[in-house]
Amino acid sequence: MEVSRKRKRHVTSHVVSHVETTLSGRREEMDSIRSFLSKHVKKQRPGSLFVTGPPGTGKTATIKTIFTNDTWLQRHTHVIANCMVIRPTEVFKTIANKLGVACQGGEKQCQQAVKEYTKTTKDLVIIVLDEVDQLTEKVITLLLNWRVILIGIGNTFTVTKATGAHQIVNFSAYSVQDIVAILNEKFNDFEKSAIEYCARKVAAVDGDLRKALDICRHAKAIARGTKRKRSALSYSQARADTINIQHIGTAFSSVYTESAAALCMKELPLQQTVALATLVTIQQKQDVTLGKFYDAFCKVCKKHLNGKCCQSDGEFFGLCDMLESRGLLLLRKKKQVRLSTVLLKMEPADVDRLLRQDRITCNILTRTLS
Ligand SMILES: Nc1ncnc2c1ncn2[C@@H]1O[C@H](COP(=O)(O)OP(=O)(O)O)[C@@H](O)[C@H]1O
Ligand SMILES: [Mg+2]
Repeated sequence: MEVSRKRKRHVTSHVVSHVETTLSGRREEMDSIRSFLSKHVKKQRPGSLFVTGPPGTGKTATIKTIFTNDTWLQRHTHVIANCMVIRPTEVFKTIANKLGVACQGGEKQCQQAVKEYTKTTKDLVIIVLDEVDQLTEKVITLLLNWRVILIGIGNTFTVTKATGAHQIVNFSAYSVQDIVAILNEKFNDFEKSAIEYCARKVAAVDGDLRKALDICRHAKAIARGTKRKRSALSYSQARADTINIQHIGTAFSSVYTESAAALCMKELPLQQTVALATLVTIQQKQDVTLGKFYDAFCKVCKKHLNGKCCQSDGEFFGLCDMLESRGLLLLRKKKQVRLSTVLLKMEPADVDRLLRQDRITCNILTRTLS
């Protein structure tokens, strides 16, 4: 098996469009992860660390922050992959691609190629696998026996128990005070009591910060909508309001009854919704490139939006970045931007159902792209 090292020594993490550069709290957890990395990288000792805890406790954000902020880490070859969006049959193919390890053939050949690479490379490769519970125990056990520094991020303990990982860092659910502190940093037009109310409600259910953030964003949209309606009635009634407990109450019920992605889609500007509909129609089994996506999008705009389209491919790629930061799709960036791949992050069936509620996007889905 020929292993090519045409690749960049550092790199390899795949592009992260939205990374918090500072996180409130999580000091201890961050220190433990940093000290694990420092110990194993500096001493060139293979090892594994599992980061566990319920959803929305900042596991992914913490790891991304470390790899973004710690420049010494960036000098070491590392790969970050989200197992939720890779097909189980393409785990090693994805790792090989990210590492720049040439491999022809299927998953088995890629597995072998990556293994050879990690055996012979001067510096140990750091492999970070987010949503690692998606992988089979067999794959994880395999990786644990390689000459690598492995970090797995997951929700459950089953994986770590089964594999006997060397070290575990557990992220416990955020407390009311933690959530209040984080929300206060991110939202400044909320009444104090509204933030407290949101934090209490979320902490009482599951402490999932993602939901708290969704509720606040949604409450903002509700407040904006109410204000718009009122300003149509009378100018004096249309004061610049802050977001209050009532807005949070309404937002809370919809966030906990509808998926966050569904909510997010409802608030998308038309062009972004149309882009999603286009992606649904062209994304069958294989990944779609940005170039192909852009060409299809232009065709759709011509047909359904009277030609109102992005002015340039650059503008369109910006639009895709926005969809990615909303968590609706995933971009795997390449040097040649048009060759970057795009993946829907939602269940295609869910997107399809939501898009069919709108006349324009429903038309896009039902008429073929000819
Ligand atoms: N301590 C924190 N400070 C600021 N934002 C945070 C913090 N923890 C999590 N977040 C944000 O909350 C959301 C959910 O966090 P995430 O890392 O995806 O959770 P997990 O990976 O544990 O499911 C993300 O948008 C993340 O940026
Ligand atoms: Mg995560």
